[in-house]
Amino acid sequence: MARVIYIDHDGTRREVEADEGASVMATAVQNNVPGIEGECGGCLSCATCHVYVAPAWTGRLPAMEADEDALLEGVTAERRPESRLSCQIVLEPELDGLEVLIPESQV
Ligand code: FES
Repeated sequence: MARVIYIDHDGTRREVEADEGASVMATAVQNNVPGIEGECGGCLSCATCHVYVAPAWTGRLPAMEADEDALLEGVTAERRPESRLSCQIVLEPELDGLEVLIPESQV
């Protein structure tokens, strides 16, 4: 099991217990974390699951695939070096305590 800490653009922190193997997006949607839409259900076509990974964690995630990189070009909020699509981050035990910041807007 892994815990994810979601941080709103206003600084509100929400800690959620995730099922192993679930994505950061699916965990947010299942736990009513505001600000992550996940409209396509995780099939890499909507980019409404954009997050900023906290600096301490960016180097600990698997590298992104080309499809994710391309879709990030179309996000509404500013794309930053730490931008990821949260449907592509799978929660394994080694990611326990992962912190992600949620952009102010996804659309
Ligand atoms: S949920 Fe649609 S791209 Fe991530």
